[in-house]
Amino acid sequence: MIYLDNAATTSPKPEIVIKEVNRALRHYSANPGRGGHSPSLAAAKAVFQTRSLVKDFFHASSEENVIFTSGCTHSLNTVIKGVLKQGDHVVISSLEHNAVLRPLYQLSQQGKIRYSIAKVTVGDDDATIDAFRSAINQHTRMLICTHASNVFGVRLPVERLCALAHSYGILFCLDAAQSAGVLDIDLAADGYDYVCCAGHKGLYGPAGIGLLLLNGGAPIAPLIEGGTGSESANLLMPDFYPDRLESGTLNIPGICGLGGGIRFIGQRGVNKIAEHEMRLIRMLYRNLSDTDRILLYTPQPDLSVSAPVLSFNIEGADSETVSEYLNRHGVAVRAGLHCAPTAHESMGTVDSGTVRIAPSVFTTEHDIRLLLNAVKNFIHSS
Ligand code: ALA
Repeated sequence: MIYLDNAATTSPKPEIVIKEVNRALRHYSANPGRGGHSPSLAAAKAVFQTRSLVKDFFHASSEENVIFTSGCTHSLNTVIKGVLKQGDHVVISSLEHNAVLRPLYQLSQQGKIRYSIAKVTVGDDDATIDAFRSAINQHTRMLICTHASNVFGVRLPVERLCALAHSYGILFCLDAAQSAGVLDIDLAADGYDYVCCAGHKGLYGPAGIGLLLLNGGAPIAPLIEGGTGSESANLLMPDFYPDRLESGTLNIPGICGLGGGIRFIGQRGVNKIAEHEMRLIRMLYRNLSDTDRILLYTPQPDLSVSAPVLSFNIEGADSETVSEYLNRHGVAVRAGLHCAPTAHESMGTVDSGTVRIAPSVFTTEHDIRLLLNAVKNFIHSS
Protein backbone atom coordinates (compact mmCIF):
# COMPACT_ATOMS: atom_id res chain seq x y z
CA MET A 1 0.00 0.00 0.00
CA ILE A 2 1.29 3.47 -0.90
CA TYR A 3 0.38 5.64 2.04
CA LEU A 4 -0.34 9.27 1.17
CA ASP A 5 -2.49 10.24 4.15
CA ASN A 6 0.37 11.63 6.22
CA ALA A 7 -1.54 14.85 6.98
CA ALA A 8 -3.81 12.67 9.13
CA THR A 9 -1.11 10.44 10.66
CA THR A 10 2.40 9.78 9.41
CA SER A 11 3.09 6.19 8.48
CA PRO A 12 5.36 4.30 8.65
CA LYS A 13 7.01 5.51 11.85
CA PRO A 14 10.81 5.76 11.96
CA GLU A 15 12.56 2.80 13.63
CA ILE A 16 13.77 5.03 16.45
CA VAL A 17 10.15 5.85 17.38
CA ILE A 18 9.22 2.17 17.54
CA LYS A 19 12.34 1.49 19.61
CA GLU A 20 11.57 4.32 22.04
CA VAL A 21 7.96 3.20 22.55
CA ASN A 22 9.22 -0.33 23.12
CA ARG A 23 11.88 0.89 25.55
CA ALA A 24 9.28 2.92 27.47
CA LEU A 25 6.97 -0.08 27.81
CA ARG A 26 9.82 -2.31 28.97
CA HIS A 27 11.67 0.06 31.27
CA TYR A 28 9.49 3.04 32.20
CA SER A 29 6.19 1.50 33.23
CA ALA A 30 5.98 3.47 36.45
CA ASN A 31 4.46 6.81 37.45
CA PRO A 32 6.85 9.72 36.96
CA GLY A 33 6.86 12.15 39.88
CA ARG A 34 4.72 9.89 42.06
CA GLY A 35 7.23 7.81 43.99
CA GLY A 36 10.79 7.88 45.27
CA HIS A 37 11.52 4.42 43.89
CA SER A 38 13.92 3.80 41.04
CA PRO A 39 11.37 2.89 38.30
CA SER A 40 9.44 6.11 39.03
CA LEU A 41 12.62 8.16 38.91
CA ALA A 42 13.68 6.49 35.65
CA ALA A 43 10.26 7.29 34.11
CA ALA A 44 10.49 10.90 35.32
CA LYS A 45 13.96 11.21 33.78
CA ALA A 46 12.73 9.85 30.42
CA VAL A 47 9.80 12.30 30.42
CA PHE A 48 12.08 15.20 31.27
CA GLN A 49 14.49 14.26 28.47
CA THR A 50 11.69 14.53 25.92
CA ARG A 51 10.48 17.78 27.49
CA SER A 52 13.97 19.11 27.05
CA LEU A 53 14.17 17.94 23.44
CA VAL A 54 10.84 19.65 22.68
CA LYS A 55 11.98 22.84 24.39
CA ASP A 56 15.13 22.99 22.25
CA PHE A 57 13.33 22.00 19.05
CA PHE A 58 10.77 24.83 19.31
CA HIS A 59 13.03 27.30 21.16
CA ALA A 60 10.67 27.40 24.14
CA SER A 61 11.98 29.31 27.14
CA SER A 62 11.91 26.40 29.61
CA GLU A 63 10.86 22.78 30.10
CA GLU A 64 8.00 24.01 32.32
CA ASN A 65 6.41 25.61 29.28
CA VAL A 66 6.19 22.28 27.44
CA ILE A 67 2.86 20.60 28.25
CA PHE A 68 2.13 17.04 27.12
CA THR A 69 -1.45 16.52 25.96
CA SER A 70 -3.31 13.75 24.20
CA GLY A 71 -3.15 15.57 20.85
CA CYS A 72 -3.57 18.90 19.11
CA THR A 73 -7.34 18.88 19.70
CA HIS A 74 -6.73 18.55 23.44
CA SER A 75 -4.16 21.38 23.31
CA LEU A 76 -6.50 23.72 21.39
CA ASN A 77 -9.41 22.95 23.72
CA THR A 78 -7.17 23.70 26.70
CA VAL A 79 -6.28 27.12 25.32
CA ILE A 80 -9.80 27.97 24.14
CA LYS A 81 -11.58 26.85 27.31
CA GLY A 82 -8.81 27.70 29.75
CA VAL A 83 -8.03 31.26 28.64
CA LEU A 84 -11.22 32.76 27.23
CA LYS A 85 -13.56 34.54 29.64
CA GLN A 86 -17.19 35.58 29.50
CA GLY A 87 -17.67 38.29 26.85
CA ASP A 88 -14.41 37.61 24.99
CA HIS A 89 -14.26 37.74 21.21
CA VAL A 90 -11.95 35.63 19.04
CA VAL A 91 -10.87 35.96 15.43
CA ILE A 92 -9.97 32.83 13.47
CA SER A 93 -9.16 32.17 9.82
CA SER A 94 -11.51 30.65 7.26
CA LEU A 95 -9.20 27.62 7.00
CA GLU A 96 -9.51 26.35 10.57
CA HIS A 97 -10.10 22.74 11.59
CA ASN A 98 -13.05 21.55 13.68
CA ALA A 99 -10.65 21.31 16.63
CA VAL A 100 -10.90 25.12 16.67
CA LEU A 101 -14.37 25.60 15.18
CA ARG A 102 -16.30 23.20 17.40
CA PRO A 103 -15.10 24.38 20.82
CA LEU A 104 -15.62 28.00 19.76
CA TYR A 105 -19.07 27.24 18.40
CA GLN A 106 -20.02 25.44 21.60
CA LEU A 107 -18.84 28.35 23.79
CA SER A 108 -20.68 30.82 21.56
CA GLN A 109 -23.89 28.76 21.77
CA GLN A 110 -23.57 28.90 25.56
CA GLY A 111 -23.40 32.70 25.28
CA LYS A 112 -19.88 32.81 26.71
CA ILE A 113 -17.87 34.15 23.79
CA ARG A 114 -18.27 35.39 20.23
CA TYR A 115 -16.02 34.72 17.29
CA SER A 116 -15.48 36.02 13.76
CA ILE A 117 -14.00 34.24 10.76
CA ALA A 118 -11.45 36.22 8.74
CA LYS A 119 -11.36 35.23 5.07
CA VAL A 120 -8.00 33.95 3.84
CA THR A 121 -7.16 35.26 0.36
CA VAL A 122 -4.88 32.69 -1.22
CA GLY A 123 -1.84 34.40 -2.72
CA ASP A 124 -2.50 37.76 -1.04
CA ASP A 125 -1.24 37.87 2.55
CA ASP A 126 -1.95 41.60 2.82
CA ALA A 127 -5.64 40.95 2.12
CA THR A 128 -5.68 38.14 4.69
CA ILE A 129 -4.12 40.40 7.30
CA ASP A 130 -6.62 43.17 6.48
CA ALA A 131 -9.45 40.67 6.99
CA PHE A 132 -8.13 39.82 10.44
CA ARG A 133 -7.61 43.48 11.29
CA SER A 134 -11.16 44.37 10.25
CA ALA A 135 -12.57 41.56 12.40
CA ILE A 136 -10.84 42.75 15.58
CA ASN A 137 -13.05 44.67 18.01
CA GLN A 138 -12.70 46.05 21.54
CA HIS A 139 -13.56 42.64 23.05
CA THR A 140 -11.13 40.61 20.94
CA ARG A 141 -8.94 38.60 23.30
CA MET A 142 -7.30 36.10 20.99
CA LEU A 143 -6.44 35.32 17.37
CA ILE A 144 -6.31 31.61 16.57
CA CYS A 145 -4.80 30.60 13.29
CA THR A 146 -3.64 27.47 11.58
CA HIS A 147 -0.06 27.59 10.28
CA ALA A 148 -1.14 25.75 7.13
CA SER A 149 -4.48 24.40 5.92
CA ASN A 150 -4.80 20.66 6.55
CA VAL A 151 -6.79 20.42 3.30
CA PHE A 152 -5.18 22.74 0.76
CA GLY A 153 -1.72 23.23 2.26
CA VAL A 154 -2.12 27.02 2.06
CA ARG A 155 0.25 28.72 4.50
CA LEU A 156 -0.99 31.65 6.53
CA PRO A 157 1.16 34.69 7.34
CA VAL A 158 1.21 33.69 11.01
CA GLU A 159 4.29 35.67 12.02
CA ARG A 160 2.63 38.86 10.75
CA LEU A 161 -0.72 37.90 12.29
CA CYS A 162 0.97 37.32 15.64
CA ALA A 163 2.59 40.76 15.41
CA LEU A 164 -0.79 42.25 14.48
CA ALA A 165 -2.42 40.59 17.52
CA HIS A 166 0.28 41.85 19.85
CA SER A 167 0.05 45.39 18.46
CA TYR A 168 -3.57 45.38 19.75
CA GLY A 169 -2.64 43.66 23.05
CA ILE A 170 -4.35 40.47 21.84
CA LEU A 171 -3.12 36.91 22.46
CA PHE A 172 -2.08 34.69 19.55
CA CYS A 173 -2.56 30.92 19.41
CA LEU A 174 -0.92 28.95 16.60
CA ASP A 175 -2.47 25.68 15.45
CA ALA A 176 0.63 23.84 14.27
CA ALA A 177 -1.10 20.49 13.71
CA GLN A 178 -0.06 20.46 10.08
CA SER A 179 3.23 22.30 10.31
CA ALA A 180 5.24 21.06 13.30
CA GLY A 181 8.18 19.09 11.89
CA VAL A 182 7.74 20.55 8.39
CA LEU A 183 7.81 24.34 8.80
CA ASP A 184 10.06 26.21 11.21
CA ILE A 185 8.42 27.23 14.48
CA ASP A 186 10.54 29.37 16.75
CA LEU A 187 8.77 30.54 19.89
CA ALA A 188 11.59 32.83 20.92
CA ALA A 189 11.73 34.62 17.55
CA ASP A 190 8.06 34.57 16.55
CA GLY A 191 6.50 35.24 19.95
CA TYR A 192 3.34 33.08 19.64
CA ASP A 193 1.63 32.94 23.03
CA TYR A 194 0.43 29.36 22.59
CA VAL A 195 1.46 26.72 20.08
CA CYS A 196 -0.61 23.53 19.72
CA CYS A 197 0.92 20.50 18.02
CA ALA A 198 -0.06 16.96 17.12
CA GLY A 199 2.59 14.37 17.99
CA HIS A 200 1.52 11.80 15.40
CA LYS A 201 1.87 13.86 12.20
CA GLY A 202 5.04 15.69 11.14
CA LEU A 203 6.74 14.94 14.47
CA TYR A 204 6.47 11.19 13.66
CA GLY A 205 5.37 10.19 17.18
CA PRO A 206 2.62 7.69 18.00
CA ALA A 207 -1.06 8.65 18.11
CA GLY A 208 -2.36 9.90 21.47
CA ILE A 209 0.38 12.41 22.22
CA GLY A 210 0.38 16.14 21.56
CA LEU A 211 1.98 19.34 22.77
CA LEU A 212 0.90 22.68 24.14
CA LEU A 213 3.78 25.14 24.22
CA LEU A 214 3.42 28.21 26.41
CA ASN A 215 5.21 31.45 25.77
CA GLY A 216 4.21 34.06 28.31
CA GLY A 217 0.53 34.44 27.38
CA ALA A 218 -2.30 34.67 29.91
CA PRO A 219 -2.50 31.90 32.55
CA ILE A 220 -4.56 28.86 31.57
CA ALA A 221 -7.20 27.15 33.69
CA PRO A 222 -6.91 23.36 33.46
CA LEU A 223 -9.36 21.48 31.27
CA ILE A 224 -9.34 18.58 33.73
CA GLU A 225 -8.29 18.37 37.36
CA GLY A 226 -6.62 15.50 39.17
CA GLY A 227 -3.45 14.20 40.73
CA THR A 228 -0.17 15.73 39.71
CA GLY A 229 2.15 14.24 42.33
CA SER A 230 2.77 17.79 43.56
CA GLU A 231 1.01 19.84 46.34
CA SER A 232 -1.22 16.84 47.01
CA ALA A 233 -2.76 18.34 50.18
CA ASN A 234 -4.10 21.26 48.12
CA LEU A 235 -7.51 20.63 46.55
CA LEU A 236 -6.80 23.28 43.94
CA MET A 237 -4.62 22.46 40.97
CA PRO A 238 -1.05 23.76 41.33
CA ASP A 239 -0.54 27.18 39.79
CA PHE A 240 2.78 26.21 38.20
CA TYR A 241 3.42 24.51 34.88
CA PRO A 242 3.53 21.85 33.58
CA ASP A 243 1.70 20.35 36.61
CA ARG A 244 -1.27 22.72 36.31
CA LEU A 245 -2.18 21.27 32.92
CA GLU A 246 -0.94 17.68 33.30
CA SER A 247 -3.09 15.77 35.79
CA GLY A 248 -3.27 11.99 35.75
CA THR A 249 -0.61 9.51 34.68
CA LEU A 250 1.25 10.71 31.64
CA ASN A 251 1.35 8.78 28.36
CA ILE A 252 4.96 7.69 28.79
CA PRO A 253 5.19 5.44 25.69
CA GLY A 254 3.71 8.32 23.66
CA ILE A 255 6.11 10.85 25.16
CA CYS A 256 9.16 8.63 24.60
CA GLY A 257 8.00 7.83 21.05
CA LEU A 258 7.58 11.55 20.39
CA GLY A 259 11.11 12.08 21.68
CA GLY A 260 12.29 9.51 19.12
CA GLY A 261 10.39 11.35 16.39
CA ILE A 262 11.95 14.68 17.28
CA ARG A 263 15.43 13.14 17.28
CA PHE A 264 14.69 11.64 13.87
CA ILE A 265 13.56 14.97 12.42
CA GLY A 266 16.49 16.74 14.02
CA GLN A 267 18.89 14.36 12.26
CA ARG A 268 17.15 14.70 8.87
CA GLY A 269 16.56 18.45 9.20
CA VAL A 270 13.12 20.10 9.06
CA ASN A 271 14.02 22.07 5.96
CA LYS A 272 15.30 19.02 4.09
CA ILE A 273 12.14 17.08 4.94
CA ALA A 274 9.96 19.97 3.77
CA GLU A 275 11.94 20.34 0.52
CA HIS A 276 11.69 16.62 -0.20
CA GLU A 277 7.91 16.57 0.35
CA MET A 278 7.38 19.78 -1.61
CA ARG A 279 9.37 18.44 -4.57
CA LEU A 280 6.94 15.51 -4.70
CA ILE A 281 3.90 17.78 -4.38
CA ARG A 282 5.18 19.98 -7.21
CA MET A 283 5.77 16.92 -9.39
CA LEU A 284 2.21 15.81 -8.65
CA TYR A 285 0.78 19.28 -9.28
CA ARG A 286 2.58 19.59 -12.64
CA ASN A 287 1.32 16.21 -13.81
CA LEU A 288 -2.22 16.76 -12.59
CA SER A 289 -2.31 20.20 -14.28
CA ASP A 290 -1.64 18.44 -17.59
CA THR A 291 -4.40 15.88 -17.07
CA ASP A 292 -7.95 16.32 -18.43
CA ARG A 293 -10.82 16.53 -15.94
CA ILE A 294 -8.54 17.38 -12.99
CA LEU A 295 -9.59 20.28 -10.77
CA LEU A 296 -6.90 21.96 -8.67
CA TYR A 297 -7.62 24.61 -6.06
CA THR A 298 -4.40 26.47 -5.41
CA PRO A 299 -1.68 28.09 -7.49
CA GLN A 300 1.50 26.06 -8.03
CA PRO A 301 2.62 25.05 -4.50
CA ASP A 302 5.86 26.38 -3.13
CA LEU A 303 7.23 26.26 0.41
CA SER A 304 7.01 30.04 0.74
CA VAL A 305 3.22 29.87 0.42
CA SER A 306 2.30 26.29 1.12
CA ALA A 307 2.90 23.22 3.25
CA PRO A 308 3.32 19.97 1.30
CA VAL A 309 -0.38 19.02 1.12
CA LEU A 310 -2.44 19.05 -2.07
CA SER A 311 -6.16 18.69 -2.76
CA PHE A 312 -7.75 17.88 -6.11
CA ASN A 313 -10.91 16.51 -7.66
CA ILE A 314 -11.80 14.68 -10.83
CA GLU A 315 -14.61 16.40 -12.73
CA GLY A 316 -17.82 14.39 -12.53
CA ALA A 317 -16.57 12.11 -9.73
CA ASP A 318 -17.20 12.28 -6.02
CA SER A 319 -14.02 12.58 -3.95
CA GLU A 320 -14.98 9.55 -1.82
CA THR A 321 -15.47 7.44 -4.97
CA VAL A 322 -11.99 8.40 -6.18
CA SER A 323 -10.48 7.60 -2.80
CA GLU A 324 -12.22 4.20 -2.68
CA TYR A 325 -10.90 3.43 -6.18
CA LEU A 326 -7.37 4.46 -5.17
CA ASN A 327 -7.57 2.32 -2.05
CA ARG A 328 -8.61 -0.70 -4.15
CA HIS A 329 -5.57 0.01 -6.33
CA GLY A 330 -3.13 0.25 -3.45
CA VAL A 331 -3.04 3.99 -2.67
CA ALA A 332 -4.26 5.39 0.67
CA VAL A 333 -5.54 8.99 0.55
CA ARG A 334 -8.17 10.90 2.50
CA ALA A 335 -11.25 12.33 0.77
CA GLY A 336 -14.29 14.31 1.98
CA LEU A 337 -14.18 17.39 4.19
CA HIS A 338 -11.13 16.56 6.34
CA CYS A 339 -12.88 17.99 9.47
CA ALA A 340 -12.50 21.49 7.99
CA PRO A 341 -15.90 22.56 6.64
CA THR A 342 -15.18 26.30 6.41
CA ALA A 343 -11.97 25.63 4.46
CA HIS A 344 -14.04 23.69 1.93
CA GLU A 345 -16.73 26.39 1.91
CA SER A 346 -14.11 29.00 1.11
CA MET A 347 -12.78 26.94 -1.81
CA GLY A 348 -16.24 25.98 -3.10
CA THR A 349 -15.70 22.26 -2.39
CA VAL A 350 -18.09 21.74 0.51
CA ASP A 351 -20.44 19.57 -1.57
CA SER A 352 -17.82 17.43 -3.29
CA GLY A 353 -15.06 17.38 -0.71
CA THR A 354 -11.59 16.87 -2.19
CA VAL A 355 -9.05 14.10 -2.60
CA ARG A 356 -6.07 15.02 -0.43
CA ILE A 357 -2.47 13.94 -0.96
CA ALA A 358 0.09 14.32 1.81
CA PRO A 359 3.55 12.76 1.42
CA SER A 360 6.03 12.11 4.23
CA VAL A 361 9.79 11.87 4.48
CA PHE A 362 9.46 8.24 3.32
CA THR A 363 7.43 8.95 0.15
CA THR A 364 9.28 8.49 -3.14
CA GLU A 365 8.86 9.73 -6.72
CA HIS A 366 7.91 6.17 -7.62
CA ASP A 367 4.98 6.38 -5.16
CA ILE A 368 3.76 9.58 -6.83
CA ARG A 369 4.08 8.02 -10.28
CA LEU A 370 1.94 5.05 -9.13
CA LEU A 371 -0.65 7.47 -7.74
CA LEU A 372 -0.72 9.37 -11.04
CA ASN A 373 -1.18 6.13 -12.97
CA ALA A 374 -4.06 5.13 -10.72
CA VAL A 375 -5.69 8.57 -11.16
CA LYS A 376 -5.34 8.33 -14.95
CA ASN A 377 -6.78 4.81 -14.95
CA PHE A 378 -9.77 6.04 -12.94
CA ILE A 379 -10.34 8.84 -15.47
CA HIS A 380 -10.17 6.44 -18.41
CA SER A 381 -12.50 3.95 -16.78
CA SER A 382 -15.18 6.42 -15.64
N1 ALA B 1 -6.78 16.53 11.13
C1 ALA B 1 -6.40 15.32 10.49
C2 ALA B 1 -6.52 15.43 8.98
O1 ALA B 1 -6.38 16.50 8.47
C3 ALA B 1 -6.96 14.10 11.06
O2 ALA B 1 -6.76 14.44 8.32
